[in-house]
Amino acid sequence: MLIRFYRRLINLSVSSLLRKLSEKFLQIKYRSYAVAKKYDWDWESKGFNRVALVNQLLFESGGWNSSYLEIGCAKNDLFFSVGAKNKIGVDPVEGGTHRMTSDEFFSESSAKFDVIFIDGLHKYEQARSDAFNALERVALGGWVAFHDFLPSTWKEQHVPRLQSTWTGDCWKLAIELCEAKGLDFKIVEIDFGVGLVRKRSHDWVVPDMRDILKDADFEVFANNLEALPLISFETAVQFINHGNLS
Ligand SMILES: C[S@@+](CC[C@H](N)C(=O)[O-])C[C@H]1O[C@@H](n2cnc3c(N)ncnc32)[C@H](O)[C@@H]1O
Repeated sequence: MLIRFYRRLINLSVSSLLRKLSEKFLQIKYRSYAVAKKYDWDWESKGFNRVALVNQLLFESGGWNSSYLEIGCAKNDLFFSVGAKNKIGVDPVEGGTHRMTSDEFFSESSAKFDVIFIDGLHKYEQARSDAFNALERVALGGWVAFHDFLPSTWKEQHVPRLQSTWTGDCWKLAIELCEAKGLDFKIVEIDFGVGLVRKRSHDWVVPDMRDILKDADFEVFANNLEALPLISFETAVQFINHGNLS
């Protein structure tokens, strides 16, 4: 028993050491992308997280009778905390209800949803394609939310991934959503930044800025931060329940 315990401990520390070494190696390899700017978002101090926000969205969309889709479920930390009778979770690796990628799911299902949470592959192009598919499938007046729109350092958002805490570069999609038509867009300042989109029209348009954003680095995020529509959780609740902030 004791020997098994020590063996597991040694295996664990060897694998975490190897992970740290490979992270260090990648950080050196990509150091030309380094940007000194840092943000101390202090997520712990906010008192709310994505679970609280998604449940606010579902409450506003019909509560228990609403329909919910989550892209990327992992350990079901969010999925199991969502109080909706009709819920689907899509993940090729673990969690949720459908073992497949988001692209596979959207190509085989035309189901409609009241609330969709996008938290799958955190790369701009994939988050963008998940967003477009989700906006097609969400009801008019319904919500699409996105995890991880507010990275704190260049390393945290770098693609490929350089460390275990990783938002990816989906912040680039946030810049496009600022210019969208037929959609309301905010970013709630909780839990690595939760993007919140309400579908106002079937004729919504999100501009295509891929040429500019594809290779943009963290400096571009820093330069655009002031223009992003950041709101607190309390203001988000007002936005969700009344549709505007007045
Ligand atoms: C950050 S985790 C999700 C966390 C979860 N939503 C939560 O709030 O606890 C990201 C998950 O996305 C999954 N994923 C990766 N690529 C995906 C894809 N193309 N489509 C759907 N899910 C994907 C991964 O397997 C991983 O479990």
